[in-house]
Amino acid sequence: MANVTSTATMDKPAMNPYEAHEWKHPTVVAGVTWKNPVGTASGTFQYAAVRWFYDVSQLGTVCTKGVSPVPWEGNPGVRTAEGPGSNINAVGLQNPGVDHYLVDDLPKLKAAGATVISNVAGHCDDDYAQVVEKLADSPADMLEINVSCPNVSHGGMSVGADPDALYRLISRLRELTDKPMIVKLTPNVTDITLPARAAVEAGADALSLINTVVGMRIDVRTGRPIIDHVTGGVSGPAVLPIGLARVWQVRTALPEVPIIGIGGIDSGEKALEYLYAGANAVEVGAAALFDPIAPLRVARELDDLLDDRPELAAKLAAGRTWR
Ligand SMILES: Cc1cc2nc3c(=O)[nH]c(=O)nc-3n(C[C@H](O)[C@H](O)[C@H](O)COP(=O)(O)O)c2cc1C
Repeated sequence: MANVTSTATMDKPAMNPYEAHEWKHPTVVAGVTWKNPVGTASGTFQYAAVRWFYDVSQLGTVCTKGVSPVPWEGNPGVRTAEGPGSNINAVGLQNPGVDHYLVDDLPKLKAAGATVISNVAGHCDDDYAQVVEKLADSPADMLEINVSCPNVSHGGMSVGADPDALYRLISRLRELTDKPMIVKLTPNVTDITLPARAAVEAGADALSLINTVVGMRIDVRTGRPIIDHVTGGVSGPAVLPIGLARVWQVRTALPEVPIIGIGGIDSGEKALEYLYAGANAVEVGAAALFDPIAPLRVARELDDLLDDRPELAAKLAAGRTWR
């Protein structure tokens, strides 16, 4: 089969993501201007490591790892496995807690000039509320409420898959903050438009989708699951078609809501697919696990691809979408 190469690399000389670049095509998500439509996806970006590779202020946004009211250790044992075209993780939202985040990652990212989305994790409604309250007066630019993690026993996906529970939670959080609030949805439901609508009716300013897809691998030498948590969340190139379908479905059901498309993006062309599916912006996740500079490279490739698509670029810059 012919090798499918990005047109950005076929038609133009190899792009150097390290050289200075003047962004040509911004986007607007829930009133917040991103200098380009590409951010990092939560859990796949670490400032302490990434700052050695590139200037984080060059990204559309930086979405940080989910933070909980107190430090969480995450799941024990083996937490990751390889899949075909994918990565499976059951990290279990390990993080040092919101108090640490407020004096460490967040001020450092803001000092570096980044536009920051703070991702919020919880095991119950009170957890989410405590974190949102603490972030309400912080310099975070946007909040992303993670109601879609498949790797925790309480909270996470169980809230995001139940439209009534999700409506209750988001209504409560809406009272606690004026910051633009994104609700991150799980693809592990029969009809994603139901939680999407519940989140918006409860006061969400935007939706992001998708979080990881439930999956597993078996070690045939032992006959046992590779990951100690048994199942994990699948991410990476294999989930691209799933993410695109979910964005298309939500955009069809909710023509006005800002959407951030996530899942399997590792090139400007794949980001472009999400924009044509109806997203206002995208986040790059697993690609950065093996290529730390991937989010910035995707942003540069997309900036050039949008040169040839002025109608789409104009819509994004005005806070609108292709469809
Ligand atoms: C190791 C790892 C950790 C993650 N941690 C979080 C998290 O803390 N909060 C969250 O909302 N999503 C988390 N995600 C999900 C990603 O942000 C993203 O939604 C998902 O991986 C799909 O995008 P991708 O295919 O580009 O990776 C994590 C994903 C991975 C691979």
